[in-house]
Amino acid sequence: MIGARKLDHLKIALEKNVQSRVKNGFGDVTLVHRAVPELNKGDINLETTFLGRKINAPLVIAGMTGGHKMAEKINKNLALAAQKLNIPMGLGSQRAAIEDDSIAYTFSVARDAAPDAFLIGNLGIAQFCEGYGLKEAEKAVEMIKADALAVHLNPLHEAVQPSGDVSFKGCLQGLKKLRSLNVPIIAKETGAGVSREDAVLLENAGVAAIDVGGLGGTSFAAVEHYRSDKRKLAKTFWDWGITTAVATVECAKNTDLPIIATGGIRNGLEVAKAIALGATSCGFAIPLLFKAKKGPEEVIEELERIMDELRTAMFLVGAQNIDELKEADVIIRGKTREWLELRGVDCREYANRRT
Ligand SMILES: Cc1cc2nc3c(=O)[nH]c(=O)nc-3n(C[C@H](O)[C@H](O)[C@H](O)COP(=O)(O)O)c2cc1C
Repeated sequence: MIGARKLDHLKIALEKNVQSRVKNGFGDVTLVHRAVPELNKGDINLETTFLGRKINAPLVIAGMTGGHKMAEKINKNLALAAQKLNIPMGLGSQRAAIEDDSIAYTFSVARDAAPDAFLIGNLGIAQFCEGYGLKEAEKAVEMIKADALAVHLNPLHEAVQPSGDVSFKGCLQGLKKLRSLNVPIIAKETGAGVSREDAVLLENAGVAAIDVGGLGGTSFAAVEHYRSDKRKLAKTFWDWGITTAVATVECAKNTDLPIIATGGIRNGLEVAKAIALGATSCGFAIPLLFKAKKGPEEVIEELERIMDELRTAMFLVGAQNIDELKEADVIIRGKTREWLELRGVDCREYANRRT
């Protein structure tokens, strides 16, 4: 039943246009060009750390799937790329396999294909409001020998799907139950973004990182529009949320946590912009899903293209490494600036870092 729902999501994401019409906000963001960068492009280093692990680039394969045969191939192809490039990879929600051991292989295939990669398990916050606790979290971690567990926050998706689970009262308490888990917890939105207020609540609940999962890419309201009997409700909320650019600034400015910027990120220039706005890494979902359907080489090629774009952006702002990129001057304009200034952020600080 859950497996069938996840298969529907995958098929709809591959066959229909389920992108939000509101953009991710990075179109409002410009990195200030350097005509005299004083560095060689070949010397640029993309390495960084991700929850204590050294990785080759600040990129993450965002969690998408598991629970059915088609997912096995996709997870395998994504994992082969994660292993080859030494970047972290998330799995889709493991709930189906917590309830039915016979499909656990559609997730554990990732560990088989990527023995050394940083793998991120995945369960939903709604489950931790109810019956789930440490035991289920440990089972999800064990299933893929995970290095971290993402707890997805998806109130929008639950609200617009048939029989969605909309009992979120006690969800922070649910997260706190996981404090003694032996791997770090990543709180992960799935397309509607995380505000500064929620970022602080999540930090206080003990999470180790936040994936802002912002508006501007795949929309689960759009997915449900094609799937559910609540088509009109889902359509009304197609573009609901906080854009990825805004959520990145809000979360980075108000917590000390590593911030993963996911949601509509489509190239390495957007990765560079997100890092200059405070992200520590960026997640990619649907573009890699299309590639993973074909094969691991296609996923690797796409990620290498993104890395080269990131390197090029770094060259053009004179940043030799990721720490220097964090200090690049950034101009924030348009709706993103309007939102941030209404929320008390002084965008001039980002524009004048070098002076
Ligand atoms: C087919 C599909 C299934 C997904 N399933 C999950 C999931 O099970 N758990 C989760 O945390 N996020 C899930 N996501 C959300 C992604 O991790 C990501 O946050 C979102 O797609 C935005 O990134 P994008 O614009 O690059 O696609 C899924 C995304 C897609 C496309």
